[in-house]
Formats: sequence, C-alpha cells, structure tokens
Amino acid sequence: QETKLWGGRFAEATDGLVELFNASVPFDQRLAEQDIRGSLAHVAMLGQVGILSGEEVGQIEEGLEAILEDVRAGDFEWRLDREDVHMNVEAALRDRIGPVAGKLHTARSRNDQVAVDFRLFTKEAALDLAAKTRALRAVMVGEAEKHLSSGAGEPVILPGYTHLQVAQPILLSHWFMAYAAMLERDEGRFRDAAERMDESPLGSSALAGTPWPIDRHATAQALGFARPTANSLDGVGSRDFALEFLSACAILSAHLSRLSEELILYSTFEFGFLTLPDSHTTGSSIMPQKKNPDVSELARGKAGRVFGNLMGLLTVVKGTPLAYNKDLQEDKEGVFDSYDTLSIVLRLYGDMLPKSTWHAAVTKAAAARGFSTATDLADHLARSGVPFREAHEVVGGLVGLASRTGRQLWDLTDEEVRAAHPQLSAEITRAMTVEESVKARQSYGGTAPEQVRAQAEAARTALS
Ligand code: ARG
Repeated sequence: QETKLWGGRFAEATDGLVELFNASVPFDQRLAEQDIRGSLAHVAMLGQVGILSGEEVGQIEEGLEAILEDVRAGDFEWRLDREDVHMNVEAALRDRIGPVAGKLHTARSRNDQVAVDFRLFTKEAALDLAAKTRALRAVMVGEAEKHLSSGAGEPVILPGYTHLQVAQPILLSHWFMAYAAMLERDEGRFRDAAERMDESPLGSSALAGTPWPIDRHATAQALGFARPTANSLDGVGSRDFALEFLSACAILSAHLSRLSEELILYSTFEFGFLTLPDSHTTGSSIMPQKKNPDVSELARGKAGRVFGNLMGLLTVVKGTPLAYNKDLQEDKEGVFDSYDTLSIVLRLYGDMLPKSTWHAAVTKAAAARGFSTATDLADHLARSGVPFREAHEVVGGLVGLASRTGRQLWDLTDEEVRAAHPQLSAEITRAMTVEESVKARQSYGGTAPEQVRAQAEAARTALS
C-alpha cells in the first residue's frame, strides 16, 4: 500500500472500511477540471512571488496539463486509496514528475483547495442554469405569442382558477406569461447567487492564512473571480454559496412542479385542454390506450429531491464549528444532483411545450362554465351606481338559482334576472361572454389581449 500524502505521523495503515467511508473521489472527481485550474493558478502565482523557481513552475505546469488531458480523455486512473480528487491529482503529478510535485502544495491546504474548486463549479453551474432558465423563458414567451392568435385568429381562452374552482376566464397566453415571469426571477436568483459567490477562497490555506508571501489577488484574477474572500476562516468554512445555489434550484423546481401539475391535470381525458406530444409521453405495458405524462410527473417528483438537497446541506452546515469539518464533504452530491436534474428538466420543457397542442374550443367552453363571468355581471351592476357589495349579493343570488336548477347564467329567463335587480336583464347576462370578460381586464398586467401582448413584447425586448 502506498503511503498517504499526509502519512508522516501515522504508524498504522488506514482501515479498509474507513478508506471506503472517507473517500470522496467517486463523486468529487467531477471537480478535476476546476482542481487543476486552481492548481495552475496557484503554482503560477508561487512562481511570480518567487516561492518556486521558474523551472519548478514549468515542470509542475506541464505535469498538470498532461493530467488534465488524461482526465478529459478518460484515461486517468482514479484511486480510492488516494481519497479525493485533490490527492489523486497530486499523487498522479508525483508519479509523473517526481518529488518536485510536492512543492505544489506550498502555502495551500486541501481546505482552500476544495473551497475554490467547488466555488468554481457552483458559479459555472449557476450561470449555466441561468442561461437554461432564460431559454425556457423564451419558449414560454413564444408560446404566449403563438396563442394570442391561434383559435381562428382569436386568442385562446382558458379557465382561470383559484382553489382549483373556476374563477375568471384568462388568456392561455396570460398563463404562459405568468410562468415566464417566475422564470425571469429564477434566472435572476441564479445570477445574483453567482455574483455573490464570485470570490476566491484560495490562499485562505487551512484556516488562518499563511506566512508565505502569496498573492491572493493574482490567483483570484487568474481564476476569473472578482476578488479574494476577505476572511480566511470564512473562506474555507462557509458553504452558503452552495446553499444559495441549492435554494435557487429549489424555488425553480417548485415553479416547474406547479407547471407540471397543471399540465398533468389539463391533459387528462376529463379536462382535455391539451395533448402532450408522443415524443414526450409514454405508454403502459398492460393498458394499450395509455399515454402517460411521465416527463411532467418526474419533473414534479424530482422537485422533492431538489428540495431535499437544500434541506440536506442546511442540516449538514448548521452544527459545524468553524472552520472546515469533514462534514462539509457532504456538500457536493446534492449540488451535482440539483444541477443535473434541472439541466434536463429545463431542456425537456423547452422541447415539449411547443410540441403540445392546446384545444381552444375545449378550453373556451370550460372557461365559460362554472359561472366564470359572475364578477363581470357584478361589475356591470356596480358601474350603474349599485354598491359593489350589494351587486355581489344580487349576482350571488342568481348564481345560486342557476346552480340549484342545473343551469348557467345565460339560461336564466328575463323575468328571473329582472326579479333579482331591476337594472339587470337577460340580455345583459347573455352579453357577459368570456371574450368580453377577458377584453375588459385592461388593468396593467391584466389578461386583456392588449395587456398580454404588452407583457410578451416587454419580455421579448428583455430577452433580445
Ligand atoms: N475531500 C474533502 C472535501 O470534499 C477535501 C477537503 C479535505 N480536507 C481535509 N482537511 N480533510 O471536503
């Protein structure tokens, strides 16, 4: 068995089960690129400040570059007994260039090494998810634009719900723009998080800084960070950058899960609002008729894992004293998992939504049922001077009458309507169509076609 890089004080070999339990290389090998970039920046700086000679720097750089090539080609041999990505790379460097490799770790600890690797990864992941979220937002805006004039040139009308009870008619495009608005904030959360984590912990060393005359500003700059972290204990001991990333992931997942729930419901036989594309649905091994919305169900289900990743790391961090504790090794898998999960869900929805077919006649008919224009009728009465509360009471009475007798508002006779209020008539109740209801909602941000078009145009401009 080879001696550990930290083996000096140990008289006995590591227990096999401990080695297995302790090792992070099965998952942190994913940080190999970041680890080598970090080492390259570190060694270049050691040369600049005169800690290492130009020749030593050259040898180490060459070795690291060769290792990076091996990693990229899949030729690198990851060894469990070398514990983690950092010691795998360093030991491989020693195998390759000999004892001079041991100079790389001057003025550095694995504590600041892992912190810088993981920040590099998480910052890139946050910016990547920001871009992918933006791409889905563009798809949502495209769908909103498309459905402003589908149904025979008319905007597609959808029942709007509260409590999952029909509330008021809305435009399908309005519904798409609501998700576009959520995604806009989701993107912003990833960008904000990326900006806040844009600090390099490299050079914090183990926890207290280092007596070596290092240049933290140089390494921060070389690695593309805005600046070095201001406190070495914080630099190696904090993981709120990962928590913030995971929390932005969790919120985005909540939004995608709500979308999923609506798509699952609306594509049922009972609702029949839309048909999901064959390419993004699956069948049943026993029931030949089945077409299941697996993508949406998984997107909804995986939100549970993504939330769990946030809760998991919050729980890991909460009891750890400053600065580094091995507990923090548990920070990575959840971040990788949330990143991978959302990367695929965002792409799937970007492909699936434009291929879904909305059934305008069905959604419009559904929007008209459930007394969805009762508010319009009350508003009509209130416009002629009746206090809104009284108008509400009157229309409520008409709804009760229609509902008890299995009718819609437009089925009520002129006598029945006039009896409820002299300023009402059957003609008026029949004029309360879903189209009129939607058109009337001209308040800023409302569902009237002009308003929704304005929302979509503003989003287009922001996206371009
Ligand atoms: N594999 C470790 C992690 O992921 C690297 C840092 C280890 N530092 C230490 N002093 N044991 O957190």
